[in-house]
Amino acid sequence: MNGELEIQDVIDLTQKVLGKDAKGHDFFHAQRVARLAVKMYIKDFPDYSNEDVKLLLLMGYLHDVIDDKIVENSDRQLKLIQQLPSVERLSTEARDELFYTIQHMSYSKNLERHYELSQRGKYVQDADRIDALGAIGIARAFAYGGKKGNLIYDPNIPVSEDKSKQTYRTKETTTINHFYEKLLKLHSLMNTTQGKIIAAERTAYMEQFLKQFFSEWEED
Ligand code: ADP
Ligand code: NI
Repeated sequence: MNGELEIQDVIDLTQKVLGKDAKGHDFFHAQRVARLAVKMYIKDFPDYSNEDVKLLLLMGYLHDVIDDKIVENSDRQLKLIQQLPSVERLSTEARDELFYTIQHMSYSKNLERHYELSQRGKYVQDADRIDALGAIGIARAFAYGGKKGNLIYDPNIPVSEDKSKQTYRTKETTTINHFYEKLLKLHSLMNTTQGKIIAAERTAYMEQFLKQFFSEWEED
């Protein structure tokens, strides 16, 4: 995609840190988020600038590189990012926007309170959440659940309404329950015009999947 050549150092770091993370936060997740954020932004703002594209790509590629559920030392990752030439070249304001966004955009961070993001940050947050929906979202959820040792589904485990960050990560759940606990609600949290359109389409596809899943489960 246009603009990616200029930030090859950031793309290389993302590849090195996320690589083949088997819980669905691999390099290609970061790449899809970065590219989708740009695609949605330029559709909503046809008079976008090169700086918009660059910052959207940087935030998209880097959003999981400092996440403490993926990397062991997120402070060290932050320092590494600060030293990359394409980050050093940014204006102070753009750099502040980049770091604020990647540190405040995650779903879990926003469970107990809401952090307001910049216009561009909102597109990256929507793109990240959209990647948890649709066919890719379904695949990622089962990859993540399997890696955590969760069952596909267990009718005896109820869907939880608990929204604290601690229990979100530790409670016993199944991947099908995760659809009801989080994934089917994401479309209502979209910030942007394009985000709302795409999330609605992908959510409808997941509802179809669940309908089929339960019809097969109940066959005798
Ligand atoms: P964030 O990175 O914004 O805090 P999460 O880590 O919750 O968000 O979600 C990232 C991805 O991991 C999503 O695709 C989501 O579906 C998946 N995921 C998170 N928790 C579970 C779970 N308990 N079961 C299955 N998938 C999960
Ligand atoms: Ni992500």
